[in-house]
Amino acid sequence: MTDAVRMTSGKDVFQRCYEYTRPDEFRALGLYPYFTSFGGAIAENSPYYRLDGKPVLMFGSNDYLGLTTNPAVKEAAIAAVRDYGTGCSGSRMLNGTLDIHIRLEEELAEFTGKEATVLYSTGFMTNGSLSCLLGRDEYAILDKSVHASINYGTMVSFGKNHRRFRHNDMKDLENIFESIHADRGKIVIVDGVFSMEGDVAPVPELSALCRRHNARLYVDDAHGIGVLGERGAGTAEYFQMLPEVDILMCTFSKSFASTGGFIASERPVIEFLKHHSLPFIYSASMPPAAVATALAALHIFRSEPERREKLLRNSDKIRKGLKSVGFEVHDGFTPIIPVIIDDELLLCRFFKALIEAGIYTNPIFRPAADKGMIRISCMATHEDEHIDQLINTMLEIGRSFQFLQ
Ligand SMILES: Cc1ncc(COP(=O)(O)O)c(C=O)c1O
Repeated sequence: MTDAVRMTSGKDVFQRCYEYTRPDEFRALGLYPYFTSFGGAIAENSPYYRLDGKPVLMFGSNDYLGLTTNPAVKEAAIAAVRDYGTGCSGSRMLNGTLDIHIRLEEELAEFTGKEATVLYSTGFMTNGSLSCLLGRDEYAILDKSVHASINYGTMVSFGKNHRRFRHNDMKDLENIFESIHADRGKIVIVDGVFSMEGDVAPVPELSALCRRHNARLYVDDAHGIGVLGERGAGTAEYFQMLPEVDILMCTFSKSFASTGGFIASERPVIEFLKHHSLPFIYSASMPPAAVATALAALHIFRSEPERREKLLRNSDKIRKGLKSVGFEVHDGFTPIIPVIIDDELLLCRFFKALIEAGIYTNPIFRPAADKGMIRISCMATHEDEHIDQLINTMLEIGRSFQFLQ
């Protein structure tokens, strides 16, 4: 737009962008923490990634089972490109359904014990299914810590009666139920494993409360499937409560080593979503390589339970190790390990110092979580020596910043 037009056209919607200088302020200090550009893993099954020509030890990926570099999974993706091409160039409803989409949906239904499933092209869009599930007078009741995509899915729904309960606080949920007329439709929505806190939703208590108050239960198990449960079917399976979850949601961008997502539920619910959910209908289907990757990962969940066992052993070792040297670490047992550093500048400096020492983690700032934190995500491909390196390096940096004794 020319200056002349800009001067005569009143308020400019770009003004807020021109005034947004926070990233540049952090760049000027050499502390900007986002968009680190990696060169890929240095080898198959390796937790080291190339960064500026040097290997950096990855402790910030959701690739919990380490399958993104697994030779069998990679081969499945390559074979799918050979057999089906690179994309579908269309919606599932029209030209975009392949036989492997159907196979993945059927295998996931069997895996989750639900009547049917439907695939979406990203996890974020999968939670967009909420947009068509909620009618005008119905209530979405959300744990305060649910993922942003759930907030978004409910926000764009017809339902406007959203309520939030304190994180994992069943008393607060009960109070909300008490305040809603018994006749109103209600759905309670939680993460199975919470992406910032790394703790799990109390599925048995949630399910009992939902039954008592005639509400449906929706569990986003993005971080639980592949990781928890006897067969890796996630948080609900861990509690032996899979049948009690009315809608089970998951993304393929974590343990499945791919991209996309799915909803598993009763057949009529899936049928309704397939014909009403805008993120499903008006978007191109998952590309063949992504579908084949998710299928291959699902087979590995079943055939290699030792990956899950090692992952949980690694998580335990890191939690105990960091606590023993004095860090404040959230309690839990999942591979998401939040280390509290609730000072923005110190957090940026800590994160940068870790990278310089050859370790990548994720810095999380308020309001994404209640407190600032270095979020460590561990993988089944980490060995004891990697964990020792992480703990020793964090201790050294903590001491040099006079943050630890
Ligand atoms: C709990 C949870 N749900 C949904 C999503 C969205 O999934 P995706 O990144 O695959 O779109 C994420 C991703 O961070 C997540 O952590």
